[in-house]
Amino acid sequence: MKDVQFPQGYQLERLSKNHHRSAFQSGQSMVDDWLHAKALQHQTKQLSVTKVLISEAGAVAGYYSLATGQVDFQDLPSEISKSLPRRLLPVAVLAWFGIDHRYQRKGLGQKLLAQALRDCYEAGRTFAFIAVILDCIDEAAKNFYLRYDFRELPGHPFKLYLSSRQLDQMMNPVK
Ligand SMILES: CC(C)(COP(=O)(O)OP(=O)(O)OC[C@H]1O[C@@H](n2cnc3c(N)ncnc32)[C@H](O)[C@@H]1OP(=O)(O)O)[C@@H](O)C(=O)NCCC(=O)NCCS
Repeated sequence: MKDVQFPQGYQLERLSKNHHRSAFQSGQSMVDDWLHAKALQHQTKQLSVTKVLISEAGAVAGYYSLATGQVDFQDLPSEISKSLPRRLLPVAVLAWFGIDHRYQRKGLGQKLLAQALRDCYEAGRTFAFIAVILDCIDEAAKNFYLRYDFRELPGHPFKLYLSSRQLDQMMNPVK
């Protein structure tokens, strides 16, 4: 599994109160408000972990928040559910994700998503889950995730999943 390479001078860091959160603007107010007001609180309460990509200039160029969750067996497509018990099942959740508008369309979203999935993969070697799931904020975000093997959960057009098997293949392409 290769390290994700960010542009020179960029650093990935766990969110702390020293980061300039309030200047972050992705163009989606809910994504911005979460970073401005909630991400650190939730991290302190051990509900989610947020990582920020810091640009050369010290700005928050992007961020993601990861959490754990559960999905109902019945919500899963048969390709995943066929071999699983009929109950709530553990998932990793890509809860929030965004790139500041000044840094969009430069390839950072793709790299940061790869890093978020890598974190999920590494966590999954210790705490098992059956898929990574996320809620898309709009059609544009959905189109972005669909480029990276995410698929719709049946009956939930804005909820996407990537199975742990796909994640494993993604992280170990020669297997
Ligand atoms: C969606 C978002 C994360 C994309 O980040 P980005 O840094 O602009 O994306 P990248 O530059 O890495 O683009 C990677 C690829 O996805 C494509 N892409 C980017 N945004 C896209 C979109 N909205 N729809 C379809 N494709 C998109 C790019 O063209 C690029 O393709 P290419 O490799 O063939 O050139 C960013 O636009 C964003 O933060 N939006 C607002 C917040 C948001 O919607 N967050 C998701 C919450 S669910």
